[in-house]
Amino acid sequence: MFDGIAHRYDLLNRVLSFGQDVSWRRRAIRLASAGDVRAALDVGAGTGDLALALAGGGVPEVVAVDLAAGMLARARNRGRGRVALVVGSAEALPFPDASFDAVVAGFAVRNFGDLDRALADMRRVLRPGGRVVILELSLPPMPLVRALHLLYLYRIGPVVARLAGSTAEAYRYLPGSIERFPDPDRFAGMLRDVGFARVRYERLTLGVATVHVAET
Ligand SMILES: C[S@@+](CC[C@H](N)C(=O)[O-])C[C@H]1O[C@@H](n2cnc3c(N)ncnc32)[C@H](O)[C@@H]1O
Repeated sequence: MFDGIAHRYDLLNRVLSFGQDVSWRRRAIRLASAGDVRAALDVGAGTGDLALALAGGGVPEVVAVDLAAGMLARARNRGRGRVALVVGSAEALPFPDASFDAVVAGFAVRNFGDLDRALADMRRVLRPGGRVVILELSLPPMPLVRALHLLYLYRIGPVVARLAGSTAEAYRYLPGSIERFPDPDRFAGMLRDVGFARVRYERLTLGVATVHVAET
């Protein structure tokens, strides 16, 4: 599915979020690059926004991993060699234990087939004292805002996607995937269950997105 939408993915992120995804990503990068980060991994990196921001912010070694070669190809075009690109699965990360100081994932974990396994593997590749930062779409806690947001996602999103030359199907999948994803408290519990410490989260833009932070 992601290979099929790669050519319009970045444009639709900006349009459908009214540009908000840029500031959400900035917040995630700020949290991930706090302290001395020498090596960072972006899981489900897609077209590479987070990985490129980490490299641009001075992290010397940045690796981007994703199942979809078509998404990574766009990261390659934008990256000019600043980021190492690896086709691979979040559930079986092809890296030794304790390889990274920071692991990030942007709008990706919601799509993983085995979320527990992927979170455990993200923890495995982090060094002691390392940090994971997970940015994900979520539902606003206020009922009226939540209802309006769902209406927007179900009714407007697929139409805008089709008009922009993408596939409406992928953008019909989007709201259901957000609804099925654990709410922030439950997801924080999942991070604790795989062994992360100092687990916390911040809601962004009325809860339309949430950034989770945890440490090894
Ligand atoms: C919504 S895109 C997010 C891309 C990018 N991180 C961003 O910030 O825009 C989700 C990405 O997760 C990738 N993905 C989904 N399941 C995966 C898995 N099990 N392992 C690795 N990548 C996966 C998809 O191929 C896709 O590129």
